[in-house]
Amino acid sequence: MHMHKFEKIWLVFGIGSLLVFLNVVGVSAFYMGNQPPSCLTTIDPEKVDTTKPFNKPGLHKVEGKDWDYELVFVASAFSYNPAKVVVQKGVKVKIMATTKDVIHGFEVAGTNINMMLEPGYVSEYVTTFKKTGEFLILCNEYCGVGHHMMSSKIEVVE
Ligand code: CUA
Repeated sequence: MHMHKFEKIWLVFGIGSLLVFLNVVGVSAFYMGNQPPSCLTTIDPEKVDTTKPFNKPGLHKVEGKDWDYELVFVASAFSYNPAKVVVQKGVKVKIMATTKDVIHGFEVAGTNINMMLEPGYVSEYVTTFKKTGEFLILCNEYCGVGHHMMSSKIEVVE
């Protein structure tokens, strides 16, 4: 079959734009999936230790909010502070986490909690632990030689 020169050009152009379109869709989906859930809350990564509530990592009872406790984590190469925390089953907890240096992950194994911690941003997740037991917190973003050693633990008790 003989193809007219212009038909060929349009065919190439069509396939080209399709590839561009797929690329844009793919890239933006990837980008959105990697944003912290609350990328509007910012923090100076140099001043994490003196910025509330990150100056006091751990579990804090709060009043007058939609949640009962705030569970504050500070990640840095290569650990989480606190290294372990005890939470009561059934209470509403807002997890708030940030990083002092590079990008770290914050995945609570066996739950839906899976956040990326970016320097300069606060990642938040409101949840209620409905099962007792130990939940391991793991870093799932490669952050350097000690990446595999980063962990913390949430112990949920009655
Ligand atoms: Cu922190 Cu990987």
